[in-house]
Amino acid sequence: MTKEEKQLWYKFLCDYPIKFTRQKIVEKYILDFYCSKAKLAIELDGSQHYTPEAKEYDQKRTEFLQSYGIEVIRIPNGDVNRNFQGVCKYIDIRIKEKLKGKAMNTKAIIFDLDGVITDSARYHFAAWKELAGRLGYKFDEDDNERLKGVSRMDSLNIILEINGALDAFTEAEKEALCTEKNDNYVNLIGGVTPEDILPGIAKFMQDAKAAGLKLAVASVSKNAPALLTSLGIIDQFDYIADARKISKSKPDPEIFSVCAESLGIAPENCIGVEDSQAGIEAIKAAGMKSIGINVTVTSVTPDMPLSSTAELDFAKLVD
Ligand code: BG6
Ligand code: MG
Repeated sequence: MTKEEKQLWYKFLCDYPIKFTRQKIVEKYILDFYCSKAKLAIELDGSQHYTPEAKEYDQKRTEFLQSYGIEVIRIPNGDVNRNFQGVCKYIDIRIKEKLKGKAMNTKAIIFDLDGVITDSARYHFAAWKELAGRLGYKFDEDDNERLKGVSRMDSLNIILEINGALDAFTEAEKEALCTEKNDNYVNLIGGVTPEDILPGIAKFMQDAKAAGLKLAVASVSKNAPALLTSLGIIDQFDYIADARKISKSKPDPEIFSVCAESLGIAPENCIGVEDSQAGIEAIKAAGMKSIGINVTVTSVTPDMPLSSTAELDFAKLVD
């Protein structure tokens, strides 16, 4: 690679949200840089490209590539040296222009919160464990898998069912138990800061936004707005579902469908990101594609199973 190619690759293209490859071979030609999503090639030209013979050769090459539907951008090395920021901006604009005309399948990413954006799932577990302990009930990590994505009252009912105590309390007493659990939980999330955003999430959100996608949160937690505020990212979402208005917990698709409708985007153009089995089922039932983060129980397999948020890569998604 020339020094200009190295600069463009390492300081811009290899981290660009839409995937580029180097040295792409198209029949008898090798392209310096190529974006298959936008069908756009970038060539960096040294002084040898400015002789009349070289210009004629480049012209033939450009016409040949055009016959494959590939557009070629030629950038003189001098521009890279003198105005690198300007070159990057120009490439970004051209890519976005090309993608605008193209029907990009994914138009929105809908995130679960607990266990996806931040590791608050462990605080829900700890808060329920404290309550279960006080009541002398069994409640372990395996039981907790059933609670992920499930509303507060439904979660309590699952714990009571596991312990054969479904009829042990009146509705008012159950409300009081839910309040007790929530007090435990609110106490535990009190110290949450932007440092608690899980690895890979911030970059994934930033890349999706840069590519013009909408972002939403589909969490059945009534604490979601407070938690997103503590994480410092509440303003980055185009829509946040209001858990108080959601009548059915995941695996019902309601919350994901409400997000898609509110964004004005068809479900087939949305991707949901979830850490629970109930959540993956809800995404599928809503007619969306799913990314599963460390989903351990698998009656429905996520379309893209990942072992952690650090593996999220926007470029892989839009390819
Ligand atoms: C979900 C969690 O996001 O929110 C569940 O996965 C939790 O574990 C549910 O029960 C409801 O949360 P909250 O904060 O309203 O009790
Ligand atoms: Mg979750």
